[in-house]
Amino acid sequence: MEFEKVVTSRHSVREFSNLAIDKQTICGIIQLAQRAPSWVNSQPWKVYAATGKPLKDIKSAFVKNETDGLKPNSDFPVMHRNDWSENAQENMKQWRHEIVHHFESFDEAHTEMTDASENLDHSPVILYLTIPKKSPLWSVFDVGAFAQTIMLAAKDKGLDTIPTYNSVRYPDVLRKILNIPTDETIVVGISIGYSKDSLINSYKSKREPIDDIFKFIK
Ligand SMILES: Cc1cc2nc3c(=O)[nH]c(=O)nc-3n(C[C@H](O)[C@H](O)[C@H](O)COP(=O)(O)O)c2cc1C
Repeated sequence: MEFEKVVTSRHSVREFSNLAIDKQTICGIIQLAQRAPSWVNSQPWKVYAATGKPLKDIKSAFVKNETDGLKPNSDFPVMHRNDWSENAQENMKQWRHEIVHHFESFDEAHTEMTDASENLDHSPVILYLTIPKKSPLWSVFDVGAFAQTIMLAAKDKGLDTIPTYNSVRYPDVLRKILNIPTDETIVVGISIGYSKDSLINSYKSKREPIDDIFKFIK
């Protein structure tokens, strides 16, 4: 696929079909993403691909934790919405408004978003990215570049993705089922698969005007 098309057509998919993806395809995507830059080529990332029964067990354990009222405790702390910069708050508010209005009614939006959240987007595979606990902040930059390269490489192969906090909100479950060592920080889960032709997946988020974020100083 042409590069610009890959970049512009990537968007977060929240309902995947149950079509399987073979290990070789995923491996090829990860291998390509390993070309991402990192501080002094430290390559701090690791990837744990959850599929099949382990992924089913993760989904069940998350539902149980939620039902039992267990407080999420992702490895990266979550900052309260009101503490973000005003600009970020405004963008997040705008996004919520747009996605809700993409549906017929608030109830429909709520049902679809809850279904996506509870079922971890029905993804057939979730790629869990980690970095060592012994990492500088720069490694977060590195793993972000790695993550985006995974998502673009996936798109190039006709696959869709969504990075989620939702899939890492109970890290103890992930450590147990995926054997993730305690000296690694679980950063994000990237759901990957084939997109379902559904209303929720037809939503495409907007971006700020370029002049609001880009200053060309002469
Ligand atoms: C670190 C991170 C965590 C995210 N967590 C979630 C999540 O838990 N649930 C969700 O529906 N979307 C999640 N997203 C997806 C964002 O909502 C999405 O990237 C953003 O709205 C821009 O839309 P796009 O990816 O379709 O371009 C997350 C994105 C990032 C980068």
